[in-house]
Amino acid sequence: MTNTYIANNGYTREMAITARAEKRADLIAFGKDFISNPDLVERLRRNAPLNVLDAATLYGGDAHGYTDYPFLAD
Ligand SMILES: Cc1cc2nc3c(=O)[nH]c(=O)nc-3n(C[C@H](O)[C@H](O)[C@H](O)COP(=O)(O)O)c2cc1C
Repeated sequence: MTNTYIANNGYTREMAITARAEKRADLIAFGKDFISNPDLVERLRRNAPLNVLDAATLYGGDAHGYTDYPFLAD
């Protein structure tokens, strides 16, 4: 049987690349970085800087902190 192992928790771009290169995981999941970076995949592709998460807007409140982080400027 073949299983897929998805690693998660505190991964940076570099950690994810290393984990894949060393075959320690099949996939890497990103949580908080996705909240603060609506274009996270593109940022990771380009090795672009990430928006910093504001932890004060997590777990409750309204859409602020979930829908208003900026995209990379084109
Ligand atoms: C605001 C918030 C909500 C989350 N909700 C869930 C959830 O409903 N179910 C779940 O399995 N993990 C949830 N998580 C955990 C994330 O999926 C992830 O495991 C965790 O943030 C660690 O990954 P990260 O360091 O890339 O953020 C949540 C995390 C955050 C910050």
